[in-house]
Amino acid sequence: MSEKPLSKLMTTLKSPRVSVDLTGVKEAFNERIPIDLSKVADAINEPIPKYQEMFTFAAGGIPLFLFGIQAVTGILLAFFYVPQWDAAYESVRHITEGVPFGWWVRGIHRWSANLLILFVFLHMIRTFIFGSYRKPREFTWLMGVGLLFVTVTFGFTGYSLIGNQVSYWASVIGTNIAGNVPVIGKYLLYFMRGGWEVTDGTLTRFFALHAWVMPVSLTLLVGIHVVLVRLHGPTRVDPDDEREIKFWPDQIVNEVIVLLYILILIMVLTTLFPPHVGERATPEQTPLHIAPEWYFLWVYGFLKLVPGTIGMLGLMLFVAALVFWPWVDKVLQRISPRLDLSVVLGTIVALLVIVAIWWQAFFL
Ligand code: HEM
Repeated sequence: MSEKPLSKLMTTLKSPRVSVDLTGVKEAFNERIPIDLSKVADAINEPIPKYQEMFTFAAGGIPLFLFGIQAVTGILLAFFYVPQWDAAYESVRHITEGVPFGWWVRGIHRWSANLLILFVFLHMIRTFIFGSYRKPREFTWLMGVGLLFVTVTFGFTGYSLIGNQVSYWASVIGTNIAGNVPVIGKYLLYFMRGGWEVTDGTLTRFFALHAWVMPVSLTLLVGIHVVLVRLHGPTRVDPDDEREIKFWPDQIVNEVIVLLYILILIMVLTTLFPPHVGERATPEQTPLHIAPEWYFLWVYGFLKLVPGTIGMLGLMLFVAALVFWPWVDKVLQRISPRLDLSVVLGTIVALLVIVAIWWQAFFL
């Protein structure tokens, strides 16, 4: 009896004579796109210090993933959003109450934004505590500081887009704060508002920043940041500790597990605390109680204690210290070679910020 066509095909495919030889394909590919795939494989297989396993929750891969979620949900929201005060409010209401699963996409975008900021802070604290900003990684730190500012600007411009009371007054207060910057303050305020008042022009600018300038800046900065991380390799905190894990599969699997927990958390938060539209913006009526998002609460508290230009100078000093910390640290190391003053000062500042957020959130 003759062999059935299907089993004949299977036998032929399994036969060693038809083994697939991809050498030609690889060569043709490499001729056109000359990437050395073995280098990519080396990068993926590179060993990393074992201590990093404990701080997977503060690894850079988590903000990277959350940024991906923001990009996808942000594009979906932009299909329905209109950047003009009255129309903005109505379009957000339509997304939340009319568009199928609109509330869900909006909720994911909102919660994921908050977690993105939280995990960027945790990542920064980890790299700070382990002195990863020290020579030769000063520029990795600088790009990181840039990323921190881009991330909080994303947050600020994002919640100003809704067109409700909080959006409007947050835009007023935020731009007023910028107006206190010595010398250039009033130009900055005019530039941010697109005039002297918060109007439709302000919203158009915030939308351009939120949907164009910030995503492009973040993508560029992340690119440079990650290339620098790759060129320098991971920080070895203790040169005597030679214990290592593999980037692939150990660290990747750890990060994927953390990411799954984060995804579950985002879904639970979105379902339990779905987004609301709030009260429509009324510029002529200042609300009794207005508070910024949690990550700005400490700035808000500080500027209430030390208002005006002095407060602004204090904030600018803080920002300058963050930017130039790799060099400030060198001076501190010279002053105190035994005790790590950076960790002492960093811990004090981090505790003050946490207490200020807590105090502003629950007592005022
Ligand atoms: C969206 C924001 C950010 C993303 C996507 C990101 C991404 C990454 C990635 C993927 C790594 C390599 C893996 C790791 O060591 O965890 C890394 C390392 C690093 N990041 Fe970031 N990062 C961000 C923000 C920041 C910030 C705000 C800082 C500090 C101001 C910072 C400072 C550093 C430093 C110094 C390293 C080197 C760590 C080492 O050598 O062990 N990054 N980042």
